[in-house]
Amino acid sequence: MTQALPHSIRDRFPLLDRAVYTNSCSQGALSNEVRAAYERYLTDWDEKGAPWDLWVELNEAARSRFARLLNASTDEIAVTTSVSAGVSSLLSGLGHRDSRNKIVISDFEFPTIGQIVHAQELLGTKVEHVPASPDVTIPLDRLAESIDTETALVAITHVCFRNGSKTDVEAVIDLAHEAGAHVLLDSFQAVGAVPIDVRSLDVDFVAGGTLKYLLGSAGLAFLYCRADLLPQITPTQTGWFADEDIFKMDIHDYSPSNTASKFESGTPPVPSIYAGVAGMDLMDEIGIAETERHVATLTEQLIEGLDRVGARMVTPRDPERRGPMIAVSTSDERAMVAALAEDRILTTPRDGNIRLSWHCYNSAEDVEAVVAGLERHSRFLAR
Ligand SMILES: Cc1ncc(COP(=O)(O)O)c(C=O)c1O
Repeated sequence: MTQALPHSIRDRFPLLDRAVYTNSCSQGALSNEVRAAYERYLTDWDEKGAPWDLWVELNEAARSRFARLLNASTDEIAVTTSVSAGVSSLLSGLGHRDSRNKIVISDFEFPTIGQIVHAQELLGTKVEHVPASPDVTIPLDRLAESIDTETALVAITHVCFRNGSKTDVEAVIDLAHEAGAHVLLDSFQAVGAVPIDVRSLDVDFVAGGTLKYLLGSAGLAFLYCRADLLPQITPTQTGWFADEDIFKMDIHDYSPSNTASKFESGTPPVPSIYAGVAGMDLMDEIGIAETERHVATLTEQLIEGLDRVGARMVTPRDPERRGPMIAVSTSDERAMVAALAEDRILTTPRDGNIRLSWHCYNSAEDVEAVVAGLERHSRFLAR
């Protein structure tokens, strides 16, 4: 990109002409490229009927995009319809080993992880929660106490969807590995906004999707599983796209793939793949590291503005412990979201806070508009 962010790319997102968009933690703004991808899906449907070979090709295109994004190999990536689908399949195959029968989860998890992990209790798994500290981080010493020789898995979220707190992922992975436990990292609130390298992290499993900072739409997600762990895991939650050879149409035995495809299920989410691949290609062109740097400047500017108008931020102040989303405490989150929406500033409520999330297309003017909006509606701020 010759011009700096965000001006080099803002015209690709028509919504930005009509609103200040701070909802990327919920869904990224629609780009011209993703709209064109959906149109291509309809044209292909109309012109080609049921192009199954193309669909399988597209599923592989999504897999290779996810692999490149994470610095993984394609064999380590399952293309799924949601984080729920991939993680459910993973946990169905992790087994309930007598010696390690416990899952430790942070209190910052999304309900996807909470629900699936607690469902394992029906099969005899023990689940232990690690609560947050008053500084809105998951304390490493509490995690260290919980992770023991019985622990099979530690589930952590990269950036918390409720408050924007960013986990010290490297430190948790070290703790878990020292105790012989695996780590499942939910990166949905980070992928596309924060560079992720599974090799340098040495993480075991990572899940995420295209809906937010990867600029795609709902219905396309991934599960990464480190290559050396694949032979140890045989999911019982499965589907025909998990078969070692889907073209065999085999109905006589269960013969899952020896790659991470074993975590896949049924017919791929074809329309979402068109959109997701276009979104990932766009983020590839824009650059995730550049986006992270740009967003760090915007969030610093926002924090200065919040201090100026007396708004209380819930997200940790330490730049290492926050990502692209800053949560601000309110006295009535729905009223604040509605008041800002009247001013064409789009935010989302969560847990008494409003969430302000920033992406490659947001500008310094957007930040100033949000700060001015918060000041205008300061009756809804918690002091
Ligand atoms: C951290 C996190 N995990 C998971 C999800 C969604 O999971 P699923 O794909 O199962 O709907 C979200 C948001 O939608 C999220 O913010």
